Amino acid sequence: MVTAVEFQKSEIDSIILQSVKKTLSDICHHLSERNPKYNWTGVYVVVGDNLKLVSFQGAATEHVLIPLGEGLCSLAISRNETVNEKDVKSNSEYLACFLNTKAELVVPVRYGDKPIGEIDIDSDEKGAFDRDDEKFVEEIAEKISPLVKLIYDQNEKNPR
Ligand code: SME
Repeated sequence: MVTAVEFQKSEIDSIILQSVKKTLSDICHHLSERNPKYNWTGVYVVVGDNLKLVSFQGAATEHVLIPLGEGLCSLAISRNETVNEKDVKSNSEYLACFLNTKAELVVPVRYGDKPIGEIDIDSDEKGAFDRDDEKFVEEIAEKISPLVKLIYDQNEKNPR
């Protein structure tokens, strides 16, 4: 039986989670607004055998749950390294989301060395991302790691 105190604690967990998702969404918004080539920016978190989209800026995508093993998003997790695809059409691993996308940058978010999520950026411009973009987004990924970890832990406790 769930006690009143346990119930209250789970309610507080939801409040924390809501504000974490809102913060990540603000960061996605900021990144897309400040960098005109970042046409779609999202944060995925590893949940079991999937990547779950938790926050994004741009058009809605059908890829809210990506099975690990599919797409460039999974590649960044399995390799545990940044994937910078300059021409998505040339990559058979690419999972198409938007008609206009030409390039994609996927940067793992790590807790320690373990990839627990990622920042995914789509651009309408071929070869949009250079080494400076990689380094910049890698720094942002490091900054958001504690936030992503909160969502990751919550999903581990309560997989849905
Ligand atoms: N293109 C990604 C799928 C996610 S969307 O870009 C939002 C991929 O290849 O994994």
